Amino acid sequence: GGQTPEPEKHHPALAAATPMKLVQMEQDSEALKEIDYNYNPFSVSEDQVTDNILAMFDSVGVLDALDIPADVIHAIVLDVKSQYSVDVAFHNFNHVYTVLQMCYLILKGSSFVQKIVSTPVARFALLMSALCHDMNHPGNNNDFEIKSESELAILYNDNSVLENLHCSSMFETLRRHNLHKFMDSNRGEWKDFREIATAAIMSTDMSQHKVLLQKVLGAVKDPSTLGVQDWVAYIVHTADLGNLTLDWDLALMWEDRIFKEFEIQAEREQKMGLDVATYMLNLDEVSRAKIQLGFIDYVLLPWWEAMNKLIPNDLEERLVCLKRSRENYTQVLKALAKKERGEGAGGEG
Ligand code: CMP
Repeated sequence: GGQTPEPEKHHPALAAATPMKLVQMEQDSEALKEIDYNYNPFSVSEDQVTDNILAMFDSVGVLDALDIPADVIHAIVLDVKSQYSVDVAFHNFNHVYTVLQMCYLILKGSSFVQKIVSTPVARFALLMSALCHDMNHPGNNNDFEIKSESELAILYNDNSVLENLHCSSMFETLRRHNLHKFMDSNRGEWKDFREIATAAIMSTDMSQHKVLLQKVLGAVKDPSTLGVQDWVAYIVHTADLGNLTLDWDLALMWEDRIFKEFEIQAEREQKMGLDVATYMLNLDEVSRAKIQLGFIDYVLLPWWEAMNKLIPNDLEERLVCLKRSRENYTQVLKALAKKERGEGAGGEG
């Protein structure tokens, strides 16, 4: 029997050229059945959320392909989780869970994305950077760090202050668990992983959004200009801007949480005698709905529409849901205006 040569199915060059199929997904654990865009991580146990994360890593096949033992990835997930504060209303572990889940579902739902984000390293970088992209978030934005000349602002010279923190927290943690030692150095796996994941996390800085959008629009005409690190960064940024593509109750919950965070930052700034951004002040129902509409029209719709062209129509369902959120906010504003008029008329009469 030793004469027939084994088919070279594990040849590295072949592995890179042939997209890894997501076949394992069918036979996966109970946890995977839970996974859905409209899953609310706040409504289940913390263990369930951890199980789902491990199931997602497992199901994409990256742990097997990169020889990462299950207990190592489990310890990493718990360590990463411990570096998110439950006291932060929006930028907490459930936010990054939601972003990870969306990245996973975009990959799972699109054979186009599977062909482009095809290597185990790229897929691992996609999921891991989603999970780590807000590590040690203090619950305020870069503007606060810069205005207050915080230690972090000094350390990172006012450039993408928080994203630098998230990214270095990620690599400090992964190295502490010796993740780099599991990867194949001859194939440059760790180096590739670091390049892709760093680019993805640094691209979550909203000050980069316009530049990113221009690149996406350019790539719609000629996608050959993009490298895998661009694709991974765009997908993570897309998922980070995904809340208003969820069911309305979830969209409202995240809206509430981001405004809670803005309110707390504004209070701190006032106490410290710092300038407060106007959009963080007087967040009554009308201004909140107006901010949401502006955010949808000027940030979310242009981005999601461009991405839906880049990943041909595979984001259509999310885009429909985003437009529904837009419609809901216009209805909210109409109802509030009517109430206002009603009360005004009542007062005069
Ligand atoms: P950050 O996580 O740094 O990057 C994405 C930003 O989008 C986020 O901070 C918020 O400032 C903003 N954001 C997310 N969701 C909403 C929302 N529903 N309304 C307004 N801004 C939002």
